[in-house]
Amino acid sequence: MAEELKPLRIGELVVRPPVVLAALAGYTDLAYRTVCRELGAPFCSTEMMLDRQLLLPGKLRRRLVRIGQDDHPIAGQIIGSDPGTMAAAAAELCRSGFDVIDVNLACPARKVLRRRRGGYLLRVPELALRIIQAVVAAADRPVTVKLRTGFDAAGGETAFWRIAEGAFEAGVAALCVHARTVEQRYTGRADWGFLARVKAHFATGCIIGSGDVDGPAKVVEMVRRTGADGVAIARAAIGNPWIFRQLEDYLAGRPPRRPDLAEQRRVLERHYALTVQLYGPRRGSNRMRKFGIKYAKLHPAPKKVRAAFVNVTHPGQWQRVLETFYDG
Ligand SMILES: Cc1cc2nc3c(=O)[nH]c(=O)nc-3n(C[C@H](O)[C@H](O)[C@H](O)COP(=O)(O)O)c2cc1C
Repeated sequence: MAEELKPLRIGELVVRPPVVLAALAGYTDLAYRTVCRELGAPFCSTEMMLDRQLLLPGKLRRRLVRIGQDDHPIAGQIIGSDPGTMAAAAAELCRSGFDVIDVNLACPARKVLRRRRGGYLLRVPELALRIIQAVVAAADRPVTVKLRTGFDAAGGETAFWRIAEGAFEAGVAALCVHARTVEQRYTGRADWGFLARVKAHFATGCIIGSGDVDGPAKVVEMVRRTGADGVAIARAAIGNPWIFRQLEDYLAGRPPRRPDLAEQRRVLERHYALTVQLYGPRRGSNRMRKFGIKYAKLHPAPKKVRAAFVNVTHPGQWQRVLETFYDG
C-alpha cells in the first residue's frame, strides 16, 4: 500500500520525501553524499566542521566546503564554542553555497566535550543561545540546530526546552533532535516519546527526528508516532546508500529493491573513485576501509568480505577484494 508523507519544509526549501542523510563525522563527505544522492537522498548534511578550520585558507578547508553540482539542498554543519567564530564560519559557509547552516549542540565525543563544544553546550544554555543568535545574524539563509534531549538524565530537560524555545525565538528554521542524552552517546534506545512531546509543544516549528531509524518502515513509523516533520537517517545509511531508493519503493507501495552483487560492485567502485578523487589513493583507501566493512553486510558472505576489507592497507588491495568477492 502506498504511503503518503508530507514534504519537509525548511524555510523555502521543500524536501521530498521528508528525509535527510544525517551528519556523520568520517562519512558524509562529498564522495558519500554523491553516492547517496544518486540513489535518491533528497537532502544531505556534511560531517561536522570545526568553525576555526573553516576560517583557515588551505586544502582542508577547500575539501570541507566542496559541494557537488547535484549536491543540493545541503546543510553545512558547524561546531565550536565561541559565538563570534561560529558566526564567521556560518558566513563562510553561506559564501560557499550551502543552503542551510546547521549548528551542532549534540556531539558526545570526549575530545569535543573537553573543548566545550557540541553536546557540552547543552550544559550552558545561555552560551548555546548566544551562539545560535550569532549564527542566525550572520547567515542569510535558514539555520537549523542539531541537539540531544539533554546532557545527562540528572540535568533533566530544562536546558533542552530553554534552548529549543530560544532557538525558535532567534529565528531558527528547524531543530533536529537526536532522542538520547549526550551521556548516553549511542547506547540504549532513542526516546521517540520525547520526540512526540517536542513536536506537540512546537506545533508550528519544524522538528526533524533522529535515532534508530533503520529502514523505510521506520521512517514512516517515526512520522506517525512522533508527528516529526522530517526524519534523519544516520547509521543505517552507512554502507547502505540504497536505503533512499528503498524508501521511495516503500512509499510507492512497491517491494523495496535490494541491490544484487553487480550493483553493489558498481556502487562500491563509484564510491571508491570519488573518495580517491577527494583524498588521493592512500588516504582514500584508508577512508574506504570502514565503509567496506559496512557494505559487506549486504554481501551473501558478509564475514569473509568484512575480513577482506579490514585487511586492505593499500589501494591495489581494494580492487582485489572487489574482484574476489563481487564478481557475481
Ligand atoms: C560515526 C558517527 C558520526 C556522527 N557524526 C555526527 C556529526 O558529525 N554531527 C551530528 O550532528 N551528528 C553526528 N552523529 C549522530 C547522527 O547524526 C545521529 O543523530 C545518530 O547516529 C542517531 O541516529 P541513527 O540511529 O540513525 O544513527 C554521528 C553518529 C555516528 C554513529
